[in-house]
Amino acid sequence: MSEPVGVALLGCGTVGGGVAKLLLEHGDRLEQRSGRRLELRRVVVRDPAKPRAVVIPPALLSTDIAAALHDPAVHVVVELIGGTDLARRVVLDALAAGKHVVTANKALLAAHGPDVFEAARKAERTVCFEAAVAGGVPIIRALGESLAANQVTAIQAILNGTSNYILTAMADGGKSYADALAEAQRLGYAEADPTLDVDGSDAAHKLAVLAQIAFGVTAQPHEIERQGIERIDVTDIRYATELGYTIKLLAEAWSSPSQVGKSSSRQDAGDRPDDLRPDDLKTVALHVAPVMVRKTDMLAQVRGAYNAIQIVGDVVGETLYQGPGAGMMPTASSVVADLIDLAVGRAQKTFAAARLWSHRDRGFTVEPSEKVRSRFYLRLAVRDMPGVLADVCRVLADEGISISSVIQHEAVEGHPEQSVPLVIMTHYAETGRFRSAVKAIDRLGTVATPAVSYPVDD
Ligand code: NAP
Ligand code: HSE
Repeated sequence: MSEPVGVALLGCGTVGGGVAKLLLEHGDRLEQRSGRRLELRRVVVRDPAKPRAVVIPPALLSTDIAAALHDPAVHVVVELIGGTDLARRVVLDALAAGKHVVTANKALLAAHGPDVFEAARKAERTVCFEAAVAGGVPIIRALGESLAANQVTAIQAILNGTSNYILTAMADGGKSYADALAEAQRLGYAEADPTLDVDGSDAAHKLAVLAQIAFGVTAQPHEIERQGIERIDVTDIRYATELGYTIKLLAEAWSSPSQVGKSSSRQDAGDRPDDLRPDDLKTVALHVAPVMVRKTDMLAQVRGAYNAIQIVGDVVGETLYQGPGAGMMPTASSVVADLIDLAVGRAQKTFAAARLWSHRDRGFTVEPSEKVRSRFYLRLAVRDMPGVLADVCRVLADEGISISSVIQHEAVEGHPEQSVPLVIMTHYAETGRFRSAVKAIDRLGTVATPAVSYPVDD
């Protein structure tokens, strides 16, 4: 056997605890797979006195980041602290000190991918990040290696386990939003600041990472339109059920065949490879939003903290990857797979070949989602009086939007003054035109509260 690989673990919380457990309890198995022993040599935390899920030998535990980064017995630094400021400094210092880096930190990659990868290339070291997207699902390898012969044309994905856990608990278990979020935190799925989970930021960070691999675009998190699940009303969950749909927080990338002048969209997401002209694909729309997905769709079946990623490639067609998207051991599984790849020497080769976050231009630019074509769900609270429905229909017609179905329940008997819900499903329309229509509808005097709308995936 060759020389062991010395590992420093920076952060030993949910994910770090799982990684320590694997390294300490399954050393022999990992050695067989790597051909080298993966030896945990340092564990750095904020508070060494804190009780941990795994017993760390006291001699390994400290608060001294610099000592770990400069220890000659450490070959790989595993960054599992989270956040972007300290994590960026730590990763850049580790690379400068000649260490390879493994990280699960998608916020860091989305915000500082170019700096981190440039520093790695300069230092001739490797950065691995399988755990940064979709926890235990090997999507980075699938997209970056197994689908390498393809030009990706569309991605539709459930990328945040916490949000999916909450939506499932609300729809299937009748739990309140607050209770479901507290449970997701207790189970170790949520970020240290769970706002990032529920406002769509975490999914946007992960989408930025996937978009870099699939399209070569460097999208800053603020360039990805996002809407979270915080304002989803149980009323809409009920209507979705009545209409045969379920609401999922989806991260989506739609590429656009610019030369034929029409936008790609969920309308033609399933197009077979031979319908696509890869050389024409030049723009990509990236966004995160709650979407109504047909109950029979595979993405609708993804429950709890599971993630799923549907990728359309111009050669392979439609593919789907699914598995646990968050939590201690699933995420540790991906981190340790990166350590094995580094020990074997595979990771260094794929890192060098992929040239991620480099200046290599693959010709794609990020465009706003205005041109993406979708069906839409629209819920209004309207006054129950003549002409109201006609007014709403006229606004939609003015934007060229055709209605597919309408649900209107009667006003509560004896309270004609109360507003009534009006639920409209549209046919396919451009997002920009639908948004203009919603603004005009909100200005109608007969509409009581701002419209609620979601894209519909069919
Ligand atoms: P966590 O449970 O909050 O753990 C963070 C760890 O970092 C703790 O051990 C903490 O020490 C340590 N730490 C914080 N500040 C430090 C400092 N200044 N110096 C030294 N150590 C410090 O977080 P996590 O859930 O494991 O997430 C870690 C990373 O993995 C994040 O980037 C997250 O986005 C990513 N990730 C998480 C999951 C998941 O399911 N949780 C899945 C995929 C990716 P103490 O223990 O002493 O407080
Ligand atoms: N907080 C993240 C989630 C962890 O819930 O998906 C996995 O990245």
